[in-house]
Amino acid sequence: MRFDTLIRNGTIVTATDTYAADLGINGDKISAIAAKLPAENCSRIIDAAGRYIMPGGIDVHTHLDMPFGGTTSADDFETGTIAAAFGGTTTLIDFAIQYKGQTLRHAFDAWMKKADGKAVADYAFHCIITDLGTAQLEEMGQLVHEGVSSFKLFMAYPGVFMLDDASIFRAMSQAAKHGGLICMHAENGGAIDVIVQRALAEGKRAPKYHALTRPTTAEAEATSRAIALAEMAGAPVYIVHLSCNEALEKVREARDRSLPVYAETCPQYLFLSLDNFDVPGFEGAKYVFTPPLREKWHQEKLWQGLARDTLQVVSTDHCPFCFKEQKELGIDDFTKIPNGGPGIEHRLSLIYTGGVHGKRFSVNRFVELVSTAPAKLFGLYPKKGTIAIGADADLVVFDPNEHQVISAKTHHMRVDYSMFEGIHTTGAPQIVFSRGRTVIENGKFVGRPGAGQFVRRQTYSGPPS
Ligand code: URP
Ligand code: ZN
Ligand code: ZN
Repeated sequence: MRFDTLIRNGTIVTATDTYAADLGINGDKISAIAAKLPAENCSRIIDAAGRYIMPGGIDVHTHLDMPFGGTTSADDFETGTIAAAFGGTTTLIDFAIQYKGQTLRHAFDAWMKKADGKAVADYAFHCIITDLGTAQLEEMGQLVHEGVSSFKLFMAYPGVFMLDDASIFRAMSQAAKHGGLICMHAENGGAIDVIVQRALAEGKRAPKYHALTRPTTAEAEATSRAIALAEMAGAPVYIVHLSCNEALEKVREARDRSLPVYAETCPQYLFLSLDNFDVPGFEGAKYVFTPPLREKWHQEKLWQGLARDTLQVVSTDHCPFCFKEQKELGIDDFTKIPNGGPGIEHRLSLIYTGGVHGKRFSVNRFVELVSTAPAKLFGLYPKKGTIAIGADADLVVFDPNEHQVISAKTHHMRVDYSMFEGIHTTGAPQIVFSRGRTVIENGKFVGRPGAGQFVRRQTYSGPPS
């Protein structure tokens, strides 16, 4: 028995188990796990004593190289996947946008081109549907069978992305028929637009009014409507970027009725709040994304939701825009600030810090939230999302004691600020493998742009646990 890479003396952590073992990698797969593995003839031996070996993080909500709000998100598939890898994320699911009048295939092809030759880690796509005619309904089934097995729909952004209830219901019914999963941006876009117009008429133009014109009730109402439509369609539904307790309660009620309803939240809703808008001048634009930040008390409710499985996943909704020239597009009018924030790099360290170090949940639940549950829900498991013989060797050697301070001065995202500037974290990835290849080591990127592959996902197959 010989291995391309042997990781010795580490503590393997999965969603269910924590145990001391050696792990062998051959090619792009995990080939052996045992209490003691032979070191003879191994090309590379890593001593992981005192550290965890975890499955690579899976971020199911990113927007790389995405045109939005009159500009394009600042990370492309090269810079974005490198930053992801630094943070221990080895697979991401980005969004291919179908614009009005286009086929879904056009969207898929366009985003495949954006990633090709650039990604350093593996990637897949959800398809955003903004225009659903008979042809696109047909295409949904075809895409599912080509590995694009989830679709994002919007209940917000009227005239841009928003779909009416009839289209949402049709899409859900079609997804259910083909084993697809609908991801829902749940905010009542019509009501929000009226509130926004009133604010502008009153001369309220500063960044904080983006948040103050998007009430939690608008998110809760849309979450409830999405769940009702999915129930009528006999479809599972996954609520993206859930930000507040009122929406969380809608998800909890549905899950108490055993409906296949799932939801994610993101680090910004767990670590930031409306208080972040108490900054001078236009600085608040750094925190303009949708749904917006909420009052601080929501944070603990969301942490509880993660601990109690009301929320199944933590993603980032990474949608970076530089403060200079991009966020500044809205300097006189908050409605012109491109919506989105950078976060792809710090998901694991932040959730480990608040969740495990903060004693809110176990290290196994941490792995489940950032890797295993996303893999299961989105058709990547057991190729990804766990540590098992035959699984892809997407691995993170994680030091639970490493202390860091997040800063734009040291991060790797191509954006000129950090939403999490100055936050202290405990626990950090040290060595990161993508399908057996080392991509991060000694604080350096050692991978190769273009080495990341498109992953064809399986169909939705039921609850993650
Ligand atoms: O503000 C955000 N979240 N921008 C990205 C688009 C979306 O709705 O996820
Ligand atoms: Zn959204
Ligand atoms: Zn998003």
